[in-house]
Amino acid sequence: MRMRGHSLRLLGAGGLLLTLSFSLGSCFTERQNEGAQLYAAHCSSCHGDQGQGLERLIPPVAAADYIASNRAELPCIVRKGMQGDIVVNGIHYSQIMPGHEDLTDSQITNLLNFLQTNWGNTNQPYTIRETAELLGRCNGSDGQ
Ligand code: HEC
Repeated sequence: MRMRGHSLRLLGAGGLLLTLSFSLGSCFTERQNEGAQLYAAHCSSCHGDQGQGLERLIPPVAAADYIASNRAELPCIVRKGMQGDIVVNGIHYSQIMPGHEDLTDSQITNLLNFLQTNWGNTNQPYTIRETAELLGRCNGSDGQ
């Protein structure tokens, strides 16, 4: 059941991006596409299909001040997860996010670049090299 929900959502995102790729048309689109698909597969079940979060349990990743102001921490948050009190857009959250050991450094890069440049976030994207360096802080780089 869970898997089926995910693949349907993945198809939806794919269709949208196919439309977008006709209007944008560059190799940049390819990377955006991977980021969106990875988000749909690994993150949307918690953070929502538009990054909206869930009530006071799961913070939004869309238009999130946390994403803008904690840019350097995000690769390790995705890799190792996080817990404890955080404030996102003025709301307190205190839950547990699991880590993602199954993603490569380059997948984390594409995923975060999708978030940093979509859904109301207009932040600087990462190079793969930068992501790998930042992942080194939590011993989380897989060198791929
Ligand atoms: C099982 C649910 C779950 C999944 C799956 C999940 N997260 Fe989270 N995430 C959370 C929770 C809960 C928090 C807040 C943790 C806390 O309260 O300290 C969080 C926090 C965050 C934050 C920092 C706060 C914010 O909203 O800006 C980011 C960024 C984030 N997650 C990104 C991701 C990405 C990217 C993925 C997919 C690779 C992902 N998360 C997968 C539950 C999840």
